[in-house]
Amino acid sequence: MKILVKSGRVVDPKNAIDEKLDVLIVDGKIAEVASNIDAGDAEIINAAGLLVTPGLIDMHVHLRDPGLEYKEDIITGTKAAAAGGVTSVACMPNTKPVIDNLAVVRYVIAKAREQGSANVFPIASVTQGMKGDLLSEMGELKEGGCVGFSDDGLPVKDGEMMRRALEYANTFDAPIFSHAEDLSLVAGGAMNEGPVSTELGLKGIPWVAEDAATARDIMLAEFTAARLHVCHVSTRGSVELVRQAKARGVRVTCEATPHHFTLTDEAVRGYDTNAKMNPPLRSQQDVDAVREGLKDGTIDAIATDHAPHHHDEKNVEFAIALNGIIGLETLLPLTLKLVGEKVLTLSQAVALMTCNPAAILGIDRGSLAVGCVADMTLINPNREWTVEASELQSKSKNSPWIGTTMKGCAVRTLLAGKTVFERS
Ligand code: DOR
Ligand code: ZN
Ligand code: ZN
Repeated sequence: MKILVKSGRVVDPKNAIDEKLDVLIVDGKIAEVASNIDAGDAEIINAAGLLVTPGLIDMHVHLRDPGLEYKEDIITGTKAAAAGGVTSVACMPNTKPVIDNLAVVRYVIAKAREQGSANVFPIASVTQGMKGDLLSEMGELKEGGCVGFSDDGLPVKDGEMMRRALEYANTFDAPIFSHAEDLSLVAGGAMNEGPVSTELGLKGIPWVAEDAATARDIMLAEFTAARLHVCHVSTRGSVELVRQAKARGVRVTCEATPHHFTLTDEAVRGYDTNAKMNPPLRSQQDVDAVREGLKDGTIDAIATDHAPHHHDEKNVEFAIALNGIIGLETLLPLTLKLVGEKVLTLSQAVALMTCNPAAILGIDRGSLAVGCVADMTLINPNREWTVEASELQSKSKNSPWIGTTMKGCAVRTLLAGKTVFERS
């Protein structure tokens, strides 16, 4: 089976490529990348005017399967991924039951393989049941296909527990993904603490709730010489803590979400619960710091924290609405916007969604080198489209961007050479 992707602008940061080239796929793998490849008997995909990138990787996704399928499942979640140009996701373990044992890991991997439209790499929990008191069987879980460990949704409260988790995970070089939050400082807050929370009469979450937890986890990573990945950095302080730690040689990486580099807590005015997530939308100063962190390489990856919730869990009073928004289908245009605004070069933007997260997850994806699996995204960077709830593949519609016109979208997504999504 041969496919020739012709005349696209190939942007493959891993291999320092950004030029108009053809890509030949044979039996699901990249066979050649060159100009004017002779098609022979290959099926031709005309990519003129399109960007051709490695399939995008979203390293922070909640698929809600098993147990919370009324919000999302592996089928709909990976369809949403494919529609967003994403060919690989790492999924968080806060499912029911929690991904803390081999049976659940095997279920997720098998369902994704058999019925999914994207590769799914499970992240297992740090503690059993995410309860915070006993470490999960990390070695066995890693062996079973997990790419790292996290109690995401919750912090690992106990410092000693986090220390042991880092030490244990380090014996097989797996990262711990930290949801950095000091719950005693969050103290029941519902949005960022600042002038807007005061005006709205909502209890605030101060930036120090994130910074204090980030600082602790970075120090523990430094102390143990283990790998730490800080999820969804949203404050100026946490970006700076990661920057300084990297300069000291700490093995720390981090990610930022499109919502944290696009929106401020001003979006909460009107009490729109689709502006409620954890960490919360912050101040303009924080947004600027996150964008600077993306630009200077402090932030390694853009990840969505795709967090589907049912309408009934969002259509309630702001203070009691669940945290989180869906993100897979708006990742690409929001990231390309940073290119339009000259925050990032196109190559940087693509790296943040491909080779960088691949390196953190330790997966053989995010590259269009000869021999690699042909996961590929064809992008029309100029096409405008409006986010319509009815057209989203995700089962949940909790996005603050419904009704918003975006620029740029995936027009075709290939998974090991097979088209899993096409936009006409
Ligand atoms: O907004 C969020 N949603 N933050 C989290 O930490 C958890 C996530 C979820 O699972 O809904
Ligand atoms: Zn989180
Ligand atoms: Zn999350």
